[in-house]
Amino acid sequence: MSGELKAIVTGGGSGIGLAAARALAARGMKVACLDLVPPGEPFIGITCDVTDDAGVRGAVAEAAERLGGIDVLVNNAGVGAQGTVEDNPDSEWHQVFDVNVVGMVRVARAALPYLRKSQHASIVNTCSIAATAGLPQRALYSATKGAVQSLTLAMAADHIREGIRVNCVNPGTADTPWVGRLLDAADDPEAERAALNARQPMGRLVNAEEVAAAIAYLAGPEAGATTGTALAVDGGMQGLRLRPSH
Ligand SMILES: NC(=O)c1ccc[n+]([C@@H]2O[C@H](COP(=O)([O-])OP(=O)(O)OC[C@H]3O[C@@H](n4cnc5c(N)ncnc54)[C@H](O)[C@@H]3O)[C@@H](O)[C@H]2O)c1
Repeated sequence: MSGELKAIVTGGGSGIGLAAARALAARGMKVACLDLVPPGEPFIGITCDVTDDAGVRGAVAEAAERLGGIDVLVNNAGVGAQGTVEDNPDSEWHQVFDVNVVGMVRVARAALPYLRKSQHASIVNTCSIAATAGLPQRALYSATKGAVQSLTLAMAADHIREGIRVNCVNPGTADTPWVGRLLDAADDPEAERAALNARQPMGRLVNAEEVAAAIAYLAGPEAGATTGTALAVDGGMQGLRLRPSH
């Protein structure tokens, strides 16, 4: 159904982005991955830093040229931050917003001229459970993801009459290299992993392929009536309130 569609995935070199690139390719899409460290075959890998506007414009133009257009944008590149409002200096606030929020803006505005020419245009932003649940020690990161969720809604409204759908996925803690780095940095990695698993009602972390499947669904024509939504892939973390298990 989505045989000829062309997609770009930011942060497509690792974790959720790489899994999303694979899921889109499995649905017959041609995929270009834009990343600081892009992947190789079967994807078109293009080196790109989403904080560099000129670089983003060049990378998106190159992707469009090599793909033959752009139908789908997966805005997924992101970085983490830990701490309360007392812990991160202004420079880090600016830097993390620059990647997680303004980075999505830069890639979207570079891609919009191509998306407008598509019959199945859509954007999927990688948001987070941190947008909708208060998590300790994640003030800066959560603020960026709250912005991503609001941005998703505003963009969905702005571009609906151009035939461009905009949605986001809200993963719970997903077992990616990112979380691997978090665990490595913990005093007791095994205890930290157990605590993260326990925080999920399903008792386990989300995996990147589960998030990727949601991204691919929202990206493709099967979701043609869906825009301005946030699809949680979080093991029940946002919506469920369980009794303690014994
Ligand atoms: N892993 C989780 O638990 C989790 C949960 C919710 C949301 N997310 C979100 O999912 C997305 C992907 O995270 P992941 O877990 O796959 O992490 P990851 O670290 O495995 O992958 C992130 C990718 O983004 C790229 N990237 C970082 N900064 C960039 C920049 N300035 N320009 C271009 N590329 C850049 C990295 O090189 C990397 O390939 C992020 O937006 C993250 O906030 C992750």
